[in-house]
Amino acid sequence: MSVEVNDFKEQVRSHANIVEVVSGYVALKKKGRKHWGCCPFHGEKTPSFTVDEEKGFFYCFGCHEAGDVFKFIMKSENCSFIDAVKFLANKYGIPVPERQKSAVEIAREQKAKQVIATNDLAARFYQACLTKTPYGKAALEYLHNRGITDAIIESFSIGFAVNSFNGLMNALGKRGCSVELLLQAGLAVPGKHGGAYDKFRGRVMIPIKDPRGKIVGFTGRVLGDGVPKYMNTGETEFFIKRYLLFGLDIAVKEIRNTRQAIVVEGHMDAISLHAAGIANAVASMGTAFATEQARLLKRMADEVVFCYDSDNAGRNAAVRAVSIARSVGLKVRVANVPDGKDPDEFIRQHGKEAFLEVIRQGLDGIDYQVEETILQNNVTNLAGKVEAVSKIIPFLLECKNEIEAAEHIRRLAQRLTIDEGLIAAEYRKSSKNSGVQASGLVQQPAAQSTNTAEQQAEEMLLAVLMEHPTLALGCQDIIDEVGFVHRARRQVFDSILAYDGEQAVEVHPLMEVLGEEASSVLAGILSKNVPEGDCEKIVDDCLRQMKKSFLEKEYEKHRLLADEFERLGNERFMEELMESQRIKNEIKRLYGS
Ligand code: UTP
Ligand code: MN
Repeated sequence: MSVEVNDFKEQVRSHANIVEVVSGYVALKKKGRKHWGCCPFHGEKTPSFTVDEEKGFFYCFGCHEAGDVFKFIMKSENCSFIDAVKFLANKYGIPVPERQKSAVEIAREQKAKQVIATNDLAARFYQACLTKTPYGKAALEYLHNRGITDAIIESFSIGFAVNSFNGLMNALGKRGCSVELLLQAGLAVPGKHGGAYDKFRGRVMIPIKDPRGKIVGFTGRVLGDGVPKYMNTGETEFFIKRYLLFGLDIAVKEIRNTRQAIVVEGHMDAISLHAAGIANAVASMGTAFATEQARLLKRMADEVVFCYDSDNAGRNAAVRAVSIARSVGLKVRVANVPDGKDPDEFIRQHGKEAFLEVIRQGLDGIDYQVEETILQNNVTNLAGKVEAVSKIIPFLLECKNEIEAAEHIRRLAQRLTIDEGLIAAEYRKSSKNSGVQASGLVQQPAAQSTNTAEQQAEEMLLAVLMEHPTLALGCQDIIDEVGFVHRARRQVFDSILAYDGEQAVEVHPLMEVLGEEASSVLAGILSKNVPEGDCEKIVDDCLRQMKKSFLEKEYEKHRLLADEFERLGNERFMEELMESQRIKNEIKRLYGS
């Protein structure tokens, strides 16, 4: 972000009093230093949503949503950061500076406009060929046979490229499109001996539009069995697939209404679903679902349902897509149409209601990942089960919270008939390595009370370090050894460590670099009351508590492993037993209990 934008943002912030802004959405009541209200981001009846006027941020004790005034607007108005700044600037009558564009940027924008205009002309030409000329007859028949009506042809602007090397070039040339522009739009390809010729020939042409309905590229399907089946516009700076979802321009309304999007692989699947009246369908165009596509959907939906092809490629793609969609905070399910069909074939054969039932039956995303992994491994013996568990754990680490992870672990243990404690131990091991939150819930109930003490110690430690960042360096060794229960806390710690200054750490810049999860954790930390007094002593006490909790968990883990190995008749149980004893002795030595 440029300096000017940053200054402007701070200028807006200084006008936009957070209590005033939030009050436009939520009734707030002042109690103590904070304002309280019912959280607008999760349903609740008793207020756990707080606004700290002085520090300029909000924090919900219920759903842990947190951030500054801009974040609040982004969430409430469902908009980007820049738009939130503009929104508040308008509200407070602050003139938004017009950014000076560089010559390169201006040229690029002009070029993009020209490319889109060229695509638009081409689409009209293709569509006229399909619907108004004898050349389009076979293609029209092909589409009708696939259940694609004239109304759908119209709404998706489907056309036909005649089987000629210069049909489009001639037609568009007459309308003033240069060869260079046709090349840039990917509608023509350069010839080996100079010149250029039409890229798409003898194909049904399906325009690919951006979310606002501008045509940015095409895919062309052969009539019948030729190869390649689909020919696509190549990726250019004007056509970047990972930012596009086929059909989104048409589906956006229904997606907003239902807060749900159905994502299929193929263009034809999406078209076919729309033809059957499923208006919230989009296609990821091929198999790899990208984070950018997920973010696009997150702006308008709460849930995505992946309905990929039932072949191996489609199933594996769905497993990966679940993680990507979850990572942006979407709810995810996966539905598979039966008997190896794709959604297009299925809905044409069985109709809308049957398809909607398939969608309703869709599995929760993680359940799908678990089931798929189990299917792909031979889990009839212990080695196979262990292998499957190790592949499943990364999916569990993506769970939003421990309650969810614990539930999946419980079910997985039943599903594989192995001890829950063993899976929990593996989960903990991995979560420690990856730094993901993991504590009492997926461990032993006995560890829960110490766990609370541990969480409190971690938060208190960070709260003190935020005020006295110079003390962080002295904590590093022990933190490296025992870690934090929550990955985000480690992130906060690392940022304090990196903070260059002796005064208290500045909150807002830190939140910006921290990202959503860690910012919300930080907001929780900042809402703690740091007691007056010897802060070095507080830090020492916290570290001591954290080490103790760490050792107790290690002890528990090895003891559990020992039990499990003993149950399985595996000799490693001795090793684990001895390790757990060693840890127990160390706890006694250090803490006398
Ligand atoms: P499929 O082979 O499953 O095609 O490829 P489909 O969607 O069922 O198409 P129809 O029903 O036979 O017409 C799935 C997706 O993979 C991409 C396309 O995005 C297609 O929709 N693909 C496939 C290509 O880009 N090129 C190809 O040659 C084949
Ligand atoms: Mn198909």
